[in-house]
Amino acid sequence: MKKQNYRHAETIAIHSGVTGYPDRGAVAPPIYQTSTFQFRNTAHLNDVLSGKVEGDLYTRYSNPTQRAVEKTLAALEKTESAIVTGSGMAAITTTVLGLLKTGDVILTTADIYGGTYHLFHDFLPRLGISTLMIPSHDPRDLESAITPETKMIYVESPTNPLLNILPLREIARIGKAHGCITVIDNTFATPVNQTPSDFGIEIILHSATKYLGGHSDILAGAVTGPAKVIETLRNTLRILGPTLDPFAAWLMLRGIKTLAVRVHQQNTNAMKLAEYLSNHPKVRRVYYPGLPSHPNHELAKSQMKGFGGVVSFEIEGSGKDAATFVESVEMMAMAPSLGAVETLITQPVTTSHRSFTLEDRKRAGISESLVRIAVGIEHIEDLIADCERGFAALN
Ligand SMILES: Cc1ncc(COP(=O)(O)O)c(C=O)c1O
Repeated sequence: MKKQNYRHAETIAIHSGVTGYPDRGAVAPPIYQTSTFQFRNTAHLNDVLSGKVEGDLYTRYSNPTQRAVEKTLAALEKTESAIVTGSGMAAITTTVLGLLKTGDVILTTADIYGGTYHLFHDFLPRLGISTLMIPSHDPRDLESAITPETKMIYVESPTNPLLNILPLREIARIGKAHGCITVIDNTFATPVNQTPSDFGIEIILHSATKYLGGHSDILAGAVTGPAKVIETLRNTLRILGPTLDPFAAWLMLRGIKTLAVRVHQQNTNAMKLAEYLSNHPKVRRVYYPGLPSHPNHELAKSQMKGFGGVVSFEIEGSGKDAATFVESVEMMAMAPSLGAVETLITQPVTTSHRSFTLEDRKRAGISESLVRIAVGIEHIEDLIADCERGFAALN
């Protein structure tokens, strides 16, 4: 099989990094659904362990199906290397535990994903790792919050659920200037819409449960970055153990092949839905970086190729009205995830941001009347008709 360096995500997703084609000429790669690997003799085992010949020992350490998807992801994110994990939270936990130690401080923003907030806020302090969450996205505020103990700058962009955009080039610069490793959760954007390594961000991680998998049928995660850092994280993963099962790795690889077409359709649907909601009398405010009225629209245009598939909006009414809307739509599933072919809808205060303290929720700007729609690839007219059902129920 010829190796090519493709430049476009659409092509990379299909042709880069697929290894282990069997001699029989199968077009799709096989699933190595095995927990362990056998050796011909001790010399063979030693050759594999010393890296003299390619091979695997045990699936918690490595597996050819995991390797295939890791190579694809590293290519998509334009980084040297990647690991895959058993969930997005496993990717985040492995990154933090692999790179930080007691006494270190993480600098992040107030509106990170609820599970990450929980990890940073409630769990890491037990290990002596603390987190400073600042309520601003202004890089000057970020920079002035850095102390000698700050070892990691951790961001999401677009943020969840208000779709704020952070200046990635500035953040990478600040990280380099102060010796802090920069990490981004790129789940919302996907490498189709945004490649943070273009701006100098070092570590890019994903909940592959979302767009990369794309079909609401796997839990998976990934971390990509420089080979040396990823090697450290691979060793951490081997000890902590949240390995991605080979079948889930294969489903992820299959999902990634259609990532670009799905994301293009989701970008288009989300833009049209955001425009429709902006003109609706029962909507107070729409959050979507593709709208010219979005405060970070110009920044989004400068660092994203598409604006993503998530649209949030505040109902003109109470938290109870938002709940009525979410319960009254029919096609959209009331489910706490995103990035799938089917549209999902949530009220963030009852799902992704349930674990936030009231004070932190307020600091993050997440109100009771906020609704988040994670747009799928259905026809836009059916999506709008479903929203009409939700609005009708508010009368
Ligand atoms: C932005 C973001 N990061 C990470 C995660 C965690 O991923 P997982 O559920 O795959 O552990 C989620 C899950 O919703 C998420 O939305």
